Amino acid sequence: MPEDTNTTNLQAHVPKLGKVLADPAKPLAERFRALFTLRNIVCPESVQAIAAAFEDDSALLKHECAYVLGQMQDLSAIPLLTSVLENKQQDAMVRHEAAEALGAIGDAESIAVLTRFKDDESVEVAETCEIALDRIAFKQQAKQADELSPSGGYLSVDPAPPAPEADIASLRDQYLDTSRSLFQRYRSLFALRNIGNTEAVEAIVEGLNDSSALFRHEAAYVLGQMQHPASVTGLAERLKDVSENYMVRHECAEALGSIASDEVLPLIKEFAKDEAVVVKESCEVALDMAEYEASGDFQYANAIVANEDQDHE
Ligand SMILES: [Fe+2]
Ligand SMILES: [Fe+2]
Repeated sequence: MPEDTNTTNLQAHVPKLGKVLADPAKPLAERFRALFTLRNIVCPESVQAIAAAFEDDSALLKHECAYVLGQMQDLSAIPLLTSVLENKQQDAMVRHEAAEALGAIGDAESIAVLTRFKDDESVEVAETCEIALDRIAFKQQAKQADELSPSGGYLSVDPAPPAPEADIASLRDQYLDTSRSLFQRYRSLFALRNIGNTEAVEAIVEGLNDSSALFRHEAAYVLGQMQHPASVTGLAERLKDVSENYMVRHECAEALGSIASDEVLPLIKEFAKDEAVVVKESCEVALDMAEYEASGDFQYANAIVANEDQDHE
């Protein structure tokens, strides 16, 4: 089916998907599936449906909503993301993701608010604002629009474009060099991701011991995208460390969930009882996603809409 026909068909499901997403009585995993489906139906109605979820109790769900809004790159999400970043009652992980999403959308309108919070008392929020500002500045200077595209087969809108180098050893050194800006280090990270072999994975794993929690969480996120077995030991180590920042542990849990080998599933089951709510919920969702991937059923929209219809019969 051509993509635009698909999108038009799916658009009719937005209200139902929005209802599932906003319903705290539904299992979190089902709400995540609704969110991921909305992500692929880029229109102002989807943005509105996602915006409604910011009243929820789950920081995990809200941070994912902010992430998705950034990935959709719809300008209509900017006022909402700005208010989330401004709201110090929101969890730092949610505010971080709102700032990152503003960077992903990359509109000059967001420079003011990102500048205002680049010294926020949450280090993760402050560092994210700095990276987002660098991304917007890079975008403004880029001569071609594709200079910001990720390449390497990844479809995500990344917080920094890949560095142009191809030598793994020098990329590794630049990636680990704490005297460089986080934006520049992220550029090395995404270049390593795009190379994608075991040596590149091993270099990225070294970043899981960085002094910046934000940097560690991004390394874990990228390893989740890569789904390479050589990252399992490093990710598991960070997940098991209960003194580690919850954003980092959450990202390790999700990355392990996306690898979902027999070796990691027992670990994720164990941490689905974790005391940190964000970690516990990440593991619950990861287990559900692993089941879905195993069943090969990516028709989330159809499944959810069918479920909803049943509920109302
Ligand atoms: Fe994040
Ligand atoms: Fe996350």
